[in-house]
Amino acid sequence: MEDEKQKRYGAKTGEDTAISARNFSVYYGNFHAVKNVNMDFVRGKVTAIIGPSGCGKSTFLRCINRMNDLVDGCRTEGSLQLDGIDIYHKRMDVAELRRRIGMVFQRPNPFPKSIYENVAYGPRLKGGLSKDELDAIVETSLKRAALWDEVKDRLASSALGMSGGQQQRLCIARALAIKPEVLLMDEPCSALDPKSTSRIEDLMGELSGEYTIAVVTHNMQQAARVSDFTAFFYEGNLVEYGATDKLFTNPAHKATNDYITGRFG
Ligand SMILES: Nc1ncnc2c1ncn2[C@@H]1O[C@H](COP(=O)(O)OP(=O)(O)O)[C@@H](O)[C@H]1O
Ligand SMILES: [Mg+2]
Repeated sequence: MEDEKQKRYGAKTGEDTAISARNFSVYYGNFHAVKNVNMDFVRGKVTAIIGPSGCGKSTFLRCINRMNDLVDGCRTEGSLQLDGIDIYHKRMDVAELRRRIGMVFQRPNPFPKSIYENVAYGPRLKGGLSKDELDAIVETSLKRAALWDEVKDRLASSALGMSGGQQQRLCIARALAIKPEVLLMDEPCSALDPKSTSRIEDLMGELSGEYTIAVVTHNMQQAARVSDFTAFFYEGNLVEYGATDKLFTNPAHKATNDYITGRFG
């Protein structure tokens, strides 16, 4: 049974599941964008989602914190659970879900506010914090996002004056400030230069362990560098899922091999 589970979901025996998808599908109207996906995201690990453009990576990722609720005509089937609780349950508090599952997007999207206010925004909304407590959260979050040293002397200046790479780390700090358990990242480096990309990749390594991270990337070297597990999607299907080392050195499916060796994509 455990062997069977490992084969089907890529989860190792005894590993702790944070998110699990079972026969999970997503439709846009009649279009079946994500097809009967079964996979477990292991707690405290980095899972990469790879595959050619249009294969359903972003659609799947966005369902994990119900960002797809905002898309007209989008519906889901099957189950998606966070710690055994159905993410699509009719009594799910979506604001609370998004507090537990933070998200970082392709283009850094800081608010047109100061660096400090970007990070303080979420905790302040939740309320009940003193100025000192808020200051401490801002400092810790910026440190965790490897940005503190660069900005500690200009917390009051506008976030929009930062470089793209700094803005993306600020968005990560903003996500961390509300103490999520899971971090979803949709191609977080695709708008960044190589140096900033490498900083974000290092950061993912540092944050794993404490956070469960799901990262969509079209950059296979990046998936190989940063992730513990990799899921390969093709035309809405999860073709292969397993330990990153294994998937990149000894894939079980021809389509995976063709993709990772650059034959299409
Ligand atoms: N809002 C939408 N309405 C209709 N179709 C969509 C929408 N968003 C994505 N799709 C379609 O769903 C499929 C998967 O898209 P997406 O999840 O963005 O793929 P990826 O992130 O892998 O490039 C594509 O065929 C895309 O055109
Ligand atoms: Mg995408």
